Amino acid sequence: MAKKLKAWQGWLIYGGSLVVVFVLGIIVSSLIERRSEVASIFNNRQTKMSGIVTQNEKFKVDFPNEYESWKATEDTTFKSEFNGNAQHDDLASHPAEVIFWAGYAFSRDYASPRGHYHALEDMRNTLRTGTPFTRDQNIQPGTCWTCKSPDVPRYMKEHGIANFYKAKWSDLGAEIVNPIGCSDCHDPATMNLRISRPALIEAFKRQGRDITKASQQEMRTLVCAQCHVEYYFKGDGKYLTFPWDKGLTVENIEAYYDSLNYSDFVNPISRTPILKAQHPGYETTRMGIHAQRGVSCADCHMPYKSEGGIKYSDHQIMSPLAHIDRTCQTCHRQDAEVLRQNVYDRQRKCEEIRDKLETELCKAHLEAQFAWNHGATQQEMQPVLKLIRQSQWRWDFGVASHGAAFHAPQEIMRILGNGLERALQARLAIAKIVAKHGFTGDIPLPDVSTKEKAQKYIGLDMNKLRAEKQRFINTIIPKWLQEAKAKGRLTREM
Ligand code: HEC
Ligand code: HEC
Ligand code: HEC
Ligand code: HEC
Repeated sequence: MAKKLKAWQGWLIYGGSLVVVFVLGIIVSSLIERRSEVASIFNNRQTKMSGIVTQNEKFKVDFPNEYESWKATEDTTFKSEFNGNAQHDDLASHPAEVIFWAGYAFSRDYASPRGHYHALEDMRNTLRTGTPFTRDQNIQPGTCWTCKSPDVPRYMKEHGIANFYKAKWSDLGAEIVNPIGCSDCHDPATMNLRISRPALIEAFKRQGRDITKASQQEMRTLVCAQCHVEYYFKGDGKYLTFPWDKGLTVENIEAYYDSLNYSDFVNPISRTPILKAQHPGYETTRMGIHAQRGVSCADCHMPYKSEGGIKYSDHQIMSPLAHIDRTCQTCHRQDAEVLRQNVYDRQRKCEEIRDKLETELCKAHLEAQFAWNHGATQQEMQPVLKLIRQSQWRWDFGVASHGAAFHAPQEIMRILGNGLERALQARLAIAKIVAKHGFTGDIPLPDVSTKEKAQKYIGLDMNKLRAEKQRFINTIIPKWLQEAKAKGRLTREM
């Protein structure tokens, strides 16, 4: 009996080690194969490149998988409960935002993001960029193009960084013509990941860090941190700057702005100097468990894909919920539906507080207006304005990056909770001020319950803005693109 068992065990060990050796062999050979595959593509490139190559089409021959998946960011069909790659009119679903951004271009038009392929078209078409006909105060600086195209680092190299930021938005229309692409994240000669935007390199430097020392895994996040961050336009030269010198939390960045007495605009309803958060995706993601465990943006948004025996990074950057099998399930064993619900669950909870905060903050702005109209003094209102500023900064920081409710759920709940508390404090303070001026009871509020009503209330003539924009789209944009084509900057069919 014992002898028999021994033989059986022997065969098992023999068989087992065969399997182990075989599997190891496969792994090693696939690694070598992948390396030589990649190496052979890199050594036999048909289009040798140097400098900054902005036309994404030029990469198609040598990197067809990366190119085609990048081009697929054109697709707008995927939709999840809160996000997705179709544009969604955020002002329509959250009319309070019109009140928050009164006196600022965001009150005209604000939509959720789509894929990188659409970056330029969306920026030209939004009512926020105004039109060059009117040269109104809302025409934006060149800085606005920074996160939209590999033509940006090219232009900076040719004309100087400061000259790019200083230019008027509408003066660069024939220069910045290829949407976010290969040269934004890669050195075209070697295809190594590369930081192409000076603001990130400079922000690291000011913190005493050297971004060229970043590991490969860190680079898989840092290429995204070139654009998915909070930033502001510094001084008259509109020099793009990341406000990270005091740290990366919502309070650190607020302290930085406060120390400069900085605000993006003054809300004319409540007369509050407002900080507009951009999209602090990198900063907020760092507060979540995934980033803290070393998971990179690319791990979830650029998963590997295998086709015809070739493994490559899926460049169709979008919601990871579109293919949970290649994103979450590379690390988690749970069912796809369970993982999807984990995401929705966190998002719903943040949304719940967000809605409460929006309601209260909207009332705070309108009640402040009422208080001013009923004789409140600058001195009385000072603490109220501070609370409204702090509340709105927290609201914006918590929601503007679109993914944060999953990237860092606890941190976003904390931020929104503090924002809600400040909005309520502001309303309490206003009630005391108006009481001092002889008004008690509920402050009467205007009906701003839809985007249209809110825009009318803050005095926007939307029909005029839309008509002007349409004229711009029909007449100026075709000229920009023609000029770019004539100069060889744009090779894509229009
Ligand atoms: C050069 C700037 C830039 C870089 C680099 C960049 N993004 Fe974006 N990203 C944008 C802009 C701008 C948009 C919005 C485009 C639009 O709405 O037209 C966007 C949109 C997105 C979206 C929304 C897509 C959708 O379908 O809803 C995701 C997700 C995203 N980016 C993730 C990433 C990740 C992950 C990285 C790094 C691997 C990255 N981005 C690098 C600028 C950038
Ligand atoms: C938003 C940033 C971003 C853009 C835009 C981008 N890539 Fe990538 N690319 C990455 C990241 C991140 C990786 C993964 C690198 C790693 O892990 O070493 C990668 C990997 C690659 C690789 C290595 C093989 C692979 O698939 O993993 C090639 C080749 C490549 N990209 C080509 C391209 C081409 C061609 C374009 C333009 C059509 C492009 N990339 C656009 C970020 C980007
Ligand atoms: C590259 C690996 C990796 C990927 C990809 C990944 N995760 Fe995770 N996830 C982790 C790690 C590591 C933790 C931390 C768990 C720990 O350390 O115990 C974690 C934690 C979590 C948690 C618990 C933390 C919390 O916030 O309560 C949830 C839920 C989760 N992941 C869901 C997802 C979902 C959904 C996706 C896809 C969108 C995903 N993960 C993608 C590695 C990954
Ligand atoms: C652990 C996985 C994971 C990591 C890591 C991760 N994300 Fe996300 N991201 C998600 C999920 C899940 C969503 C929500 C998608 C949805 O609601 O459809 C999301 C949403 C987003 C969105 C909004 C997408 C839209 O359709 O509007 C952007 C932009 C984004 N992430 C950028 C980033 C950036 C930049 C990083 C790195 C700093 C990053 N993400 C890291 C999983 C991840």
